[in-house]
Amino acid sequence: MRPRLPSHAFIRTAAVAALAAFAAPSPLSAANPVRETPASMVAALHTAFGEHHARAVHTKGVMFEGTFTPDKGAAALTREPIFAGGERPILARFSLFAGLPDLPDNDVAASPAGLGIKIKAADGDDFDIEANQHKDFITATFDEFAVFLRALPASGPEAAHPNPAETFLAAHPHAAEFLASRTYPASFAQATYFGINAVKFTNAKGRSVFVRYQFIPRAGEHYLSPDERKAAGGSYLHDEIARRISEGPVTFDWYAQVAGPGDKVDDPSVAWPDSRRLVPLGTFTLVHAPADPETAQRTLLFLPGQPHPGVEPADPMLVLRNGAYPISFRERQ
Ligand code: HEM
Repeated sequence: MRPRLPSHAFIRTAAVAALAAFAAPSPLSAANPVRETPASMVAALHTAFGEHHARAVHTKGVMFEGTFTPDKGAAALTREPIFAGGERPILARFSLFAGLPDLPDNDVAASPAGLGIKIKAADGDDFDIEANQHKDFITATFDEFAVFLRALPASGPEAAHPNPAETFLAAHPHAAEFLASRTYPASFAQATYFGINAVKFTNAKGRSVFVRYQFIPRAGEHYLSPDERKAAGGSYLHDEIARRISEGPVTFDWYAQVAGPGDKVDDPSVAWPDSRRLVPLGTFTLVHAPADPETAQRTLLFLPGQPHPGVEPADPMLVLRNGAYPISFRERQ
C-alpha cells in the first residue's frame, strides 16, 4: 500500500500559513496582548513535556477515516464551499492532552482529550478543525498559557510550596477551576468536543456572525468517576475506540454556536452562554483506521486558523495557533 503523503499543494499551504503567521502584525488588543510567538509557544510546550520528536502536545492519539456530510442550513451562515457540496472524505484524530508519547489513557493529564478533523476539499483547500473536551481555554491569552507551561517543570513533588505552578493558579482562579473541572470520557466517541476559539462566518449576502464550534456525539456523553478512571487501564480509550469502530461507524454532529450580544471573541477562557443558538453545520462519520496508521499520523498537519472563503479566525489565539502547528509538524518529520 502506497504511504499517504501530503500533496505539494498541501505542503505549500502549510508553509504559507506558517510564514503568514510570522509576517502578519501581532493581533494585539487590550484583552489579548501578545509577546509570545508560535515558535516560543512550541518551545514552552517542550519545556513542560520534553522533546520527543513527536507532537509537542496531544502526542498520543489514534486516527480514523470517514466522511463529512454538510447540513443544508449551513450555507445561511457561511459561503465556504464545503457546505455547499456533497459528502467529502475526512481524516480524524482523537488524542490525549499532554505532550507525552507514552501517557496512560487514564492519566490525569490525558484530559482534555482532543478531536482534530480534516475535511478534504474538492479544490484542495482542506478545512481543518481542532477541538477539545473543554468549553473554554485554561487562560485568556497565549502569554498566560506560556507562563503556566514554563512553571510546570519546577513544580514537581520535590519543590517547596507554594511552587511556581501553585503561585500561578492562585493568581489565575479560572485556570485552577479549569484543571479541577476536567472530565474523563468512557470512550473517545462519548465526549462533546469544542472548538473554543471564535471564528467569523460570512454568508453569500455578506452578512457575518461570530461562531464557536461544537461536536456532539451521537453515542451520547459518558464520563468516568475518579475511581472508574483509575481502574480503567492505560490503553482503555484506544482499545475501546478500535473495538467500537470495528462494530460500526462513530458519528458526531457539528454545530456552530452563534455569538450573542456581549460575547467576547478574543477571550477563549470565557465560554459563551449555553442559551446561544446552535446551528447544525453537518455530520462526521468515522468508519475505519487508515491503511498505514503510522504514516498517516506522521504526515498529518492541521491548520485550524487557516482562512477560507466565508470563514476567518476571529480570536487572536487561533491565528497564533495556526503558526505553531506547522513548527511542531516540521520538528517531528
Ligand atoms: C495557546 C494555545 C495552543 C497552542 C500553543 C497549541 C499548540 C499545539 C501544537 C504545537 C500541537 C501539535 C501539532 C502537531 O505536531 O501537529 C497541538 C495539537 C493539538 N491541539 Fe493545540 N494548541 C493550543 C490550543 C489548543 C486549543 C484551544 C485546542 C482545542 C480547541 C487545541 C487542540 C489541539 C488538538 C486536538 C491537537 C492534536 C492535533 C493532532 O491530532 O494532530 N489546541 N496544539
